[in-house]
Amino acid sequence: MSLSKLKPEAVTHVGIAVLDLEKAISDYSALFDFDKVERMEVGTEGVKVAMLSCGSSEIELLCPTREEGAIAKFVREKGEGIHHMAIRVPDVGDAIEQARKLGLSVLDEKPRVGARGAEAAFIHPKSFHGVLLEFYNR
Ligand code: CO
Repeated sequence: MSLSKLKPEAVTHVGIAVLDLEKAISDYSALFDFDKVERMEVGTEGVKVAMLSCGSSEIELLCPTREEGAIAKFVREKGEGIHHMAIRVPDVGDAIEQARKLGLSVLDEKPRVGARGAEAAFIHPKSFHGVLLEFYNR
């Protein structure tokens, strides 16, 4: 199979780790008039999520619901802040394969299915200039 570059369709969202989801939604909404605020819980990841629509992209607020889990660990070690950047790609499985061929540290063997049925996969920040990169298909 040839190594063709991935088409980045958009910076579809930026993920932000927060300690209090409702407080964060309220603070963001005090400044910005979001058309839509969608709340969901992703039990498998141990987070509550709010997606704030932001033109054609979104802000993803992530709040830990239990002590273990990546977001809980992140806020414990680094405090609140930008956690990851998501790039929309047509096919997350293809993106994983391409990243692997480039020798990047891929955290997901295959796409994980997250909130709203979206597929996602992550690249370790150590292999991507300090950014936790998420491939996302919506
Ligand atoms: Co995300």
